[in-house]
This record gives sequence, structure tokens and C-alpha cells, in this order.
Amino acid sequence: MKLHVRPCQILRGSARVPGDKSISHRALLLGAIAEGESIVHNWLPAADCQATLKAMRALGVTAEQPSLTELVVHGRGLRGLQPPNAPIDCQGSGTTMRLLAGILAGQQFVSTLDGHAGLRRRPMERVAIPLREMGAAVETDGGRPPLTITGGDLRGIDYLLPVASAQVKSAILLAALYAQGHTIVRQPGPARDHSERMLRAQGADLAIQDNVVTVTPHPQPLAPCSLTIPADFSSAAFPLMAALLVPDANLVLEGIGVNPTRTGLLDVLSGMGAEIVWLNQAEQAGEPVADLMVRSSRLQAAEVGGETVVRMIDEFPILAVAATQAEGQTQVRDAHELRVKESDRIAAVATELRAMGASIAERDDGFVVHGPTRLHGAHVHSHGDHRLAMGLAVAGLIAAGETVVEGAEVIADSFPGFVNLMLTLGAELKEE
Ligand code: S3P
Repeated sequence: MKLHVRPCQILRGSARVPGDKSISHRALLLGAIAEGESIVHNWLPAADCQATLKAMRALGVTAEQPSLTELVVHGRGLRGLQPPNAPIDCQGSGTTMRLLAGILAGQQFVSTLDGHAGLRRRPMERVAIPLREMGAAVETDGGRPPLTITGGDLRGIDYLLPVASAQVKSAILLAALYAQGHTIVRQPGPARDHSERMLRAQGADLAIQDNVVTVTPHPQPLAPCSLTIPADFSSAAFPLMAALLVPDANLVLEGIGVNPTRTGLLDVLSGMGAEIVWLNQAEQAGEPVADLMVRSSRLQAAEVGGETVVRMIDEFPILAVAATQAEGQTQVRDAHELRVKESDRIAAVATELRAMGASIAERDDGFVVHGPTRLHGAHVHSHGDHRLAMGLAVAGLIAAGETVVEGAEVIADSFPGFVNLMLTLGAELKEE
């Protein structure tokens, strides 16, 4: 699908983006291994989460969808999953593959996790190594999918994550529910903590201090979860940035999850001079939420590195767009992980924004942008990466002439309804 984007004259109103992707995956996975019925509202019906739903059904889980965004999961208990009769297709979803690997490590059967070409390029030893240490047999294809997991009797480990990855941390925490003895996970930075919050709410015994999580297995089953999932901050980041960059824009984004392990972008933008006001702060599903009121702002360049990178790991494509409009030199470092996301986000962002006239140079672990530059419309490509596709669409809103984003169908991986939402705010986009 091609997305045609015209310069945006006006961007105003209020909007609600869909439910959080990370929490949607977890609600389904944790609901499936709980005992009883979990009821999930504002579940994200995006391609990635549908992959988790299909995977759980292949493992014998019954889940109904009374509406697109509501899910009822009939938990089978920690040990009630059934052996799948074919490899499980995780499609393009790294979260599905890595978190499910943790659960499968604790099952007394063999299973294989596979995915499509994009996922088959992504590193899986990071999850295989700790699960092997816990006692599961995990085979990879030279470190990449497919993963074949022979689950079994697991033991607790004390493990220092080599990268601050919430997916790997969560896989270990899930496997820890099946282990004999304590499991300790030490993370080098504050990776998103949705699993910890949800596991605790379902009765698991987790102690958390700074960046160390300790799980003590106990004989009681996990309780089912009932929750209304907050709106996804990482999806909100696109209309939010559009409102900062389009002249005279004014936008309220409602009910956004503002978990501090996710909002590094807001800290960076505040340092850049962005006008973003938090309204109606509350708690929902054990997560902080707020409405974010955003106005067009003059931005200054930023330097981003260290722990902030971990707390905004999905927001670099859209930060790069902002940096093209900011006064001065924006530098991103310590962000090697961007090389192994849905695309090599450092190379892909640099190539595509350069095609639109940006001055952006790659570094091994980040990028440098000189701004401000007037962007011009161009034919650009998503590289099969939903966040790059949406970032380029936002760049198109502030570029001169028409921008065409090719391969834009991937937007549905995380944000179905993106185009419609932007249209209701006044943007001019057309799918072809
Ligand atoms: C996610 C964790 C992050 C993030 C991904 C979702 C999760 O990946 O990039 O979009 O739901 O746990 P890493 O754990 O690889 O950093």
C-alpha cells in the first residue's frame, strides 16, 4: 500500500489512539496461563497482537472477541497449554516470539516458533541463552528464528541482561513462574515494566529494587486479569509530533499510558522546548495515564544517550523527524539496539529522511541531525517497519509537495486506524 501525504495546513482537535501494544500482548499471554476468565477492554487488534492470539489458540487456549477491542481469555493455568500440531507463526512480532518462548520453556512438550522474513532476521540467542541456563533446550537457526523449545523442569537463575530489553526480561520472568527457586533478573537500564506490574496484580511474588527483579515461585495459580488497557504512548507519539511540527496546531491526546519506562521522548522534548501539558492524570490498569495537550512549538536540538534511550526505544524514527526541524545539532548515542528492530532503524531513518532533504548522518550507535531543514516531498519506503512508515508520514505533513510512503500497509502492525485518525484531525493523507 502507498500512502500519499500532502502538506498539512491545519491539525486540531482531540483524539484517542488505540490500546497499548505491549500490554495487549501481555494481557493475552498472562490471561492464558492464569486460572479463570480474564476480561480485557481496549485490547489492540493490530497484526502483532493478532499473531499472539493465533499462537495462544494453537496452544489450546479459548479466547473470544465480543468486539474488535474486547477479549475474553479462558485461562488454562500455568501447565494447561497443549502441544501445538505445527510450528507457531509469530508473523512479524518479536514480542510474541520472545515472551512466548519464556512460557514454552516451562511446558512439558516440544514447540517451534517461527515468523516471516522480517522476524527471521532478528536476534534470538538473547532469549535462548537464559532459558537454556534455566534448563530448557532451545535451538535457534544460527541465533535467529525458528526457535525450537523443549520445555521441562526449570531452575531459577541470577541473570544480568546484556541489553536492557523488556522482551528478554519478560521471557525470563515468565519462565521463572515455572522454576524451582528464586530467579533474579538484573537489567542494565529501566526497560518497560508492564510484565512486572501485571504479574504482581495477578498474584505472582515479585520483588523489585532499582533495576533488579526477583521472582519467587509459589504454588498458587495466577489470578485472571480484568483491565482496560491505556492508549499506547508509542502510537500517540506520531500525532503528538505532528502537532508540535505543523504550524498553529493544537491537539489533545486522551488517556495515554505515561508509564515512566516509556516516556523518555517526553523528557527529551521538554528539553527541546516542546509545549506539552499533562491533564487529568490518573491510574488505569495499574499504569499511570494522562491526557496530553500539545501545541506547535519551536524546537531546539537535543543530545540523547544513556538510560533515556531505553525509555524511548521505539520513538527514534519520530525523534529524527523532530530533529530535522530543531535548531542545532541533535545527537543520539548508545542506541545500538535500533539496528535490530523491525528494520535497521539507524540506516533506514537516515536513508529515507535524507531523500526528503534532511541533513542526517549515521553513527554506529545512533545518528546526528543538523537542523532546521525544509523537507521536500519524495518517494520513501517503510522498510517493512511500522514506526518508520508513520514517522515518514509525519515528515510528509511538514514537507513541501507530496510525499509517498511505500509499503505503508505495515502501519497495521501496531496502529490500525492511523490514517483515519490523522484525517479527522485535518491532515491530508490518501491510501492507494
Ligand atoms: C517491547 C519491548 C521493546 C520494544 C518493543 C516492545 C515489549 O523491545 O522495542 O516494541 O513489549 O516488551 P526490546 O525488549 O527488544 O527492547
